[in-house]
Amino acid sequence: MDERIRLALSQHRYGKALKFLATANDNLENGDTDSAANRAYYAVFYAMLSVTALDGFESSKHSGVISYFNHHYVKTGIFSREISDMITDASKQRERADYKNFYTTPHDIASEQVRSAENVTEIIRPYLESTWTKIKQNLPSAIFTRTSTRQFTPDKVESKYIIKILRAAMAAPSAVNQQPWEFWVSDDPEINERLSQVTPYATPAKNAPVVIIPCYRTNDLPAPMMVDIDMAICAENILLEAEELGLGAVMLGIAPFEENMKKVEEILHIPENFRPFMLIPIGYPVSKRPQEDRYEPAKIHTV
Ligand SMILES: Cc1cc2nc3c(=O)[nH]c(=O)nc-3n(C[C@H](O)[C@H](O)[C@H](O)COP(=O)(O)O)c2cc1C
Repeated sequence: MDERIRLALSQHRYGKALKFLATANDNLENGDTDSAANRAYYAVFYAMLSVTALDGFESSKHSGVISYFNHHYVKTGIFSREISDMITDASKQRERADYKNFYTTPHDIASEQVRSAENVTEIIRPYLESTWTKIKQNLPSAIFTRTSTRQFTPDKVESKYIIKILRAAMAAPSAVNQQPWEFWVSDDPEINERLSQVTPYATPAKNAPVVIIPCYRTNDLPAPMMVDIDMAICAENILLEAEELGLGAVMLGIAPFEENMKKVEEILHIPENFRPFMLIPIGYPVSKRPQEDRYEPAKIHTV
């Protein structure tokens, strides 16, 4: 698995661990002790997954993850024995809460599990942060690792990432700084399916968790002849930021083909003074291939 994807997955899973922890606290407060024990365990489990993601380790079985974690992170002394005991206990309490007949988790046990999950996430955090920093320092520029992604996992793209990507799009240079762009963003599977049929080459939009459709206005443009250039640069910024975030994307050409532009306008109800430029599906890549080196000295003419 690509280093950038491992990093993104590790950060994503740690974020999930913290969310589970917050829910466990809410459950405890509301007196739902079984749910608190369950969510506390999931906080611990996702904290472990955020560590194992850094190795590219995947297992569909919880026991597989726990034994990998113990073998590679506890026996080696990276984390203390204490964390392993907390994980085992969290797992036992969660199984009781979920499956034991006529059983309700006592409040003191649920409370202990939530505190213990808090401890696990805190113990793991410094290790994660220092490993994330090391990975970031050694990552090659996104310009050289970006490849077109046409198949996505079903994972949703967090809205904070969509905002980062759109911020990058709007950071693009444009002729006389005319910034002709606005963006339609679809996470609606039905709409994405319709978009995927606009051209024979647009199928990657079909199963993408999100499709960004950069559009340009047709009014108030000081340099209308330059709009396509502005939009192409803006689209490249989208691809590069997606790559930086461990996501994948692809440009699906729409403009300047009038018939295809009209179809997109119809699907998205784009107002008259805007035109669609491109479809850009974005999501977590199913697989990642290394980018080829396209450097060709013969294409350079020194004068
Ligand atoms: C203007 C433009 C239009 C494109 N349209 C499509 C498309 O309709 N469908 C598609 O699968 N890829 C499309 N691509 C992606 C190219 O096929 C891809 O960038 C190229 O094969 C190089 O591969 P790479 O992006 O992995 O480096 C388009 C790229 C550009 C720049």
